[in-house]
Amino acid sequence: MNKLVFVTRKIPDIGINMLRDAGYEVDINTGEEVPTTEEIVERLRQKPYDAVLTLLTDRVTSEVFDAAPQAKIFANYAIGFDNIDVEEAARRGVAVTNTPGDYAVSVAEHAIAMMLALSVRLVESDSFVRKGLYKGWSPSHFVGTDLHGTTLGLIGAGRIGEKLAHIAYHGFGMPILYYDVRRNEQLESSCEAKYYNNVEDILMASDFVSLHVPLMDSTKHLINKERLAMMKPTSFLINTSRGPVVDEVALYEALKSGVIKGAGLDVYEHEPLITDGLTELSNVVLTPHTASAREKARAEMAEIAARNIISFLETGVALNPVK
Ligand code: GLV
Repeated sequence: MNKLVFVTRKIPDIGINMLRDAGYEVDINTGEEVPTTEEIVERLRQKPYDAVLTLLTDRVTSEVFDAAPQAKIFANYAIGFDNIDVEEAARRGVAVTNTPGDYAVSVAEHAIAMMLALSVRLVESDSFVRKGLYKGWSPSHFVGTDLHGTTLGLIGAGRIGEKLAHIAYHGFGMPILYYDVRRNEQLESSCEAKYYNNVEDILMASDFVSLHVPLMDSTKHLINKERLAMMKPTSFLINTSRGPVVDEVALYEALKSGVIKGAGLDVYEHEPLITDGLTELSNVVLTPHTASAREKARAEMAEIAARNIISFLETGVALNPVK
């Protein structure tokens, strides 16, 4: 009998074709909405699936593992994997994989787009023109700042942080500071990046602070009221990592009262809900978790997830295990 794979939502064909070409029977939930845990459980109970391909919006809990007892691999279509109870997976001997790939550059470019949008006040200006408010040139209209020469502080210098540092340093002449649990000597030599062994010093010294850490117990509310108060009043916070890394209510207060100058957010603490009042502020740029929404990136994610499933089902080796 062919091996059975369940895919919790439509992903680019390239990944599905790889699975089918490997001889697997692939069932896809074709609904447009994010499926609930109950819906996933119900689908998984219908057949003895050997592998499950999940999305970052799926909450993979004991209930889900129970519904697919034969599936010893859950391949997440994302770099982040905080949606999966990885401890529970480990207890059950279930492999969990993610999709680290070259598309880290897409997320890095998204962070740069947010930095530029904030520094040149792009979104505010666009909305001003669209509302028909532009009645004549003025020297004081939407005066911003140059990115060039401002300092970028990275919290997390893995694949994405590293790509961002390269663009910022080589493209905009931005001095790079970084904090990570591990030193990245490659980054130090390629971008003259300066390592700090704590988050606080980065916050105090940077004009832009960009977050590139996974969501874990230790990074939840890493940016809180106290830490926001350490940032320069002229500085900007960029978050393309995971929403709960930032205390969103504290951020809203900080943005409203001028503790920091602005923020670019692609992720939200209680996604897709957004803290009341945040969308009313003109000093924020908001995108709907689309930092990797590029055709090439999405295809690469599908390929990596499929490759993990195929390798695991054929040889027992998960190529990108998360732990
Ligand atoms: C997107 O958020 C990802 O984790 O890949």
